[in-house]
Amino acid sequence: MQADLVVVHAAQLLTVPGRHGPKRGESLADLGIIEDGALAVREGRIIAVGPTAEVLADFTAKRILDACGKVVLPGFVDPHTHLVWAGQRSGEFEQRVAGASYMEIMAAGGGIMSTVRATRAASLSELVTQSRARLDRMLAHGTTTAEVKTGYGLELATELKQLDAIRQLDATHPLDLVPTFLGAHAVPAEYKGSVDEYVDLVVGTMLPAVAERVKGYASGEHASLPYPHTPLPIFCDVFCEDGAFDLTQSRRVLEAAKSLGFGLKIHVDEFKPLGGTRLAVELGAISADHLVCTPTEEIELLAQSDTIAVALPGTPFGLGHRQYTPARAIIEAGGALALATDLNPGTCWCESLQFIIALACRYMHLTPAEAITAATLNAACAIGLGKKTGSLEVDKWADVIILDVPDYRHLGYRFGANLVGTVIKRGRVTESFGSTGKMR
Ligand code: NIG
Ligand code: FE
Repeated sequence: MQADLVVVHAAQLLTVPGRHGPKRGESLADLGIIEDGALAVREGRIIAVGPTAEVLADFTAKRILDACGKVVLPGFVDPHTHLVWAGQRSGEFEQRVAGASYMEIMAAGGGIMSTVRATRAASLSELVTQSRARLDRMLAHGTTTAEVKTGYGLELATELKQLDAIRQLDATHPLDLVPTFLGAHAVPAEYKGSVDEYVDLVVGTMLPAVAERVKGYASGEHASLPYPHTPLPIFCDVFCEDGAFDLTQSRRVLEAAKSLGFGLKIHVDEFKPLGGTRLAVELGAISADHLVCTPTEEIELLAQSDTIAVALPGTPFGLGHRQYTPARAIIEAGGALALATDLNPGTCWCESLQFIIALACRYMHLTPAEAITAATLNAACAIGLGKKTGSLEVDKWADVIILDVPDYRHLGYRFGANLVGTVIKRGRVTESFGSTGKMR
């Protein structure tokens, strides 16, 4: 049979098998390794995976990539990013190094609000250009699919501008992007002291308008192309934290979103535990994210539910903190764990899931195998794309990376250099990256 592309002779081909949802507990370490492995691709999808001799006996291809001595695995999936913003906050980084806390800077009108001012002032095309450079770096570091949040508008027009930017980037960049509405990311300066009124705006005006906008994308109304993956997954998220939205306010936003058909996500227990993890489980959220100071009873509840725990070790690292998500407790309680960057201009400007894996191994005590599953299959499940990507299995998107290393454990072991030699996104080989990470 004819394939468009065959990848052959991988020293280790990691299939990360999991057609029926995320891996939990011990199975997180099961990478489904095929030695001297191969895979065949047609029309952007995987059509065969197996030992090289078997795949070559069945398929001829226009193009053959030799992965001899290298590791082949699913493209990384980043299930929590704030990719779309304008400007930068290096001055705040310097203040934090000198001792100011993240929430103190936010309470004084900086932090998220400072990025909100820059994002409100930027045009759609400026937002797209600045965000595209970050997407190029993500792709160069092996991320082939990502979730992207709004939340730097905190007013309808700018939230929709961010959503349009996500839509435009999804249509024009190799990465597939899944949007999340995060209107409840911070209380905007103009609502200081009247948080409930801002929540009224999010629930009564923004959520319905966002739902309408997204329906418009699917029918081509706001863009020339419909989304490639329909029905479109769209999520709603809330920053449930002291100084942002309390438990009652978070519940109002998420319940309203659920009734409009949004999937649910929630930022919980980053600095103070407010009960958000219990709320995520109760409302059937697809994921609960951060989970740094989650009480043990809520870890147990989460681990027994279908809600995926998304750990973001780049955030405590970025803040210079010592406390990380208790990943071993989550795994040992049978939970499904995923990893993400949290890419954002405040706490964690990091495009590389390879670096996140290195942090997760050291500070959350994951093995390289567990961290790889958490950044591929489980990450795909955490954004509703577990049936499309995240593993190397027949019929999934041909989202594949080839590492220039002989053993998968170099992921975790090594850090600070890019180990990815070749990226294949939906069957397209984007192998030639310049030093800036842009595709040539
Ligand atoms: O996930 N915690 C809230 N939101 C982001 C930070 C956003 C920012 O500082 O711009 C986070 O860490
Ligand atoms: Fe975040």
